[in-house]
Amino acid sequence: MKDQNTTTNTKTTKEAISAQPVMHQTSKEIQKYGTRFKVPLGLEDSVCEQSITNLNRILADTITLRDLYKKSHWQTSGATFYQLHLLFDKHYTEQAGLVDMIAERIQLLGGISVAMAKDVAELSKIPAAPSGREEVPVQISRLVDAHETIFKFVRKAARQASEGDDEGTNDLLVSNVIRTNELQTWFVSEHLVALSPIAADSSDFDGSFSKVSSETKTETKPRH
Ligand SMILES: [Fe+2]
Repeated sequence: MKDQNTTTNTKTTKEAISAQPVMHQTSKEIQKYGTRFKVPLGLEDSVCEQSITNLNRILADTITLRDLYKKSHWQTSGATFYQLHLLFDKHYTEQAGLVDMIAERIQLLGGISVAMAKDVAELSKIPAAPSGREEVPVQISRLVDAHETIFKFVRKAARQASEGDDEGTNDLLVSNVIRTNELQTWFVSEHLVALSPIAADSSDFDGSFSKVSSETKTETKPRH
């Protein structure tokens, strides 16, 4: 015998169905950007306000740097493509981790984290990158400069947080933001050193392989 339920054709109905999700809802914001509510952290209101303002600026710069790393990951080129493609994506992931930590600290201080691209672009002090593709040394210079923009502001913000006993913000900025950015700056800036991977700058190599091989058989010069 056939099961009636499984053979009935499906119909969309206007009748009330309690399983229907209530969609397309709107309302006014429950907290405006730039406002803050009190939190029971034992910190002065003025200290929290200063930390939120500073953290939002750092968040906008960090989101921008994160996206600059992904752009570089996609658009890099040339002989170092593979290593830079991987390195840029590693740094992107680390910056994404910082973004989450900074944003959540702003929320726990009672503030509102900047989030959307338009707002981020307005707040960030990192110069806008072109939409097109750039050469590797330019990609790296742009990244190093972006890191430095962050350093200059973050060190000041970390001091201000510490002076107001907001050691949680100070710790986030020093242990996570500064440390991560310092390491990444080192890794990318080393790619701008103009050294040949083939011949040492101070060697006797004059471009002739036969001369080098004959000389090295007869004399061995000390390096210094
Ligand atoms: Fe990828």
